[in-house]
Amino acid sequence: MKALILVGGFGTRLRPLTLTLPKPLVEFGNRPMILHQIEALAAVGVTEIVLAVNYRPEVMTAALKKYEKEYNVSITFSVETEPLGTAGPLKLAEKILGKDDEPFFVLNSDVICDFPFKKLVEFHRSHGNEGTIVVTKVEEPSKYGVVVHKPDSPSRIDRFVEKPVEFVGNRINAGIYILNPSVLKRIELRPTSIEQETFPAIVKDGQLHSFDLEGFWMDVGQPKDFLSGTCLYLSSLSKKGSKLLTPNSEPFIHGGNVMIDPTATIGKNCKIGPNVTIGPDVVIGDGVRLQRSVLLRGSKVKEHAWIKSTIVGWNSTVGRWARLENVSVLGDDVTIGDEVYCNGASVLPHKSIKANVESKFSSF
Ligand code: GDD
Ligand code: MG
Repeated sequence: MKALILVGGFGTRLRPLTLTLPKPLVEFGNRPMILHQIEALAAVGVTEIVLAVNYRPEVMTAALKKYEKEYNVSITFSVETEPLGTAGPLKLAEKILGKDDEPFFVLNSDVICDFPFKKLVEFHRSHGNEGTIVVTKVEEPSKYGVVVHKPDSPSRIDRFVEKPVEFVGNRINAGIYILNPSVLKRIELRPTSIEQETFPAIVKDGQLHSFDLEGFWMDVGQPKDFLSGTCLYLSSLSKKGSKLLTPNSEPFIHGGNVMIDPTATIGKNCKIGPNVTIGPDVVIGDGVRLQRSVLLRGSKVKEHAWIKSTIVGWNSTVGRWARLENVSVLGDDVTIGDEVYCNGASVLPHKSIKANVESKFSSF
């Protein structure tokens, strides 16, 4: 089978991290975001993956080459000269996606869940229509695409409304589709939106179905949701008894759901958790308190720092007795001085912060 991943744009909402790495390569749960998708696709027998990109493909090509062998898939880059939106890239990759009659998967690159690909294919084949989109329920549907059904038809979609201004329902597009190659005929090679143009046209012909997702789901394309998604992912691993989590019997674990790379070092008398990921080569000093946070490769937290709801970027250093909270995000190679307080600060790569940042969502 085949799949196309919409990798797209500049990942501006995940800055400052995306100033250093393209969004799909930013580590989520200590592995590049896109690897979660590649692994799940390979597991259901996908052998050809197209990455639809319009930004820095050279960085991605180098990083992803090694995964081709590891997962026994071919990864092709389909590079747009201008952003083609969420449907145009399918047309651009028509030669691959449409080369036989088999349906193909399409994924937004920033969604994380227990990918239900096997059941999705079975369901798609069972109804025999052109497309199936995975849906999930959320409390705040306005920032997503919402699907509406007729009362007598639980799976056939009656309306698709992208980013509704008024409430129309809370079952939203999870950004995971399986489509028949016939859908490619509906798309023109120009910047065009699958949500605003293609889906409404398929819905009109009664050919689009929904498939309800079980378990957690999150679009992790912005820091606040990246942190919430990390909590959901870790708790899902914990429910499955995953060995990726650090055992709760470790003296420094506080509240569980903690993932620590084996190359990281942890000082004495630390209190870590719940919901923390610690990447490779991270160094945590004595007496550090970490909760609900992501520490990326090579970062360093000095003694007695207190960190909550924060993403510490690669190779950054947090000073002694510093306090970071409220969705603070440090880019690559940032230094936070000793005893400095950061409340929702967003810090650009290579910057040094020496004074407190008291007001939420300041950028440096
Ligand atoms: N190749 C390419 N070219 N990819 C693009 C382009 C483009 O011009 N524009 C966006 N993308 C990619 C993004 O990188 C992302 O993976 C995906 O398409 C969706 O774009 P987002 O910008 O993340 O959209 P969204 O999160 O506001 O909304 C979408 O996702 C929601 C679920 O998270 C829509 O599909 C909603 O309907 C959906 O509910
Ligand atoms: Mg998104």
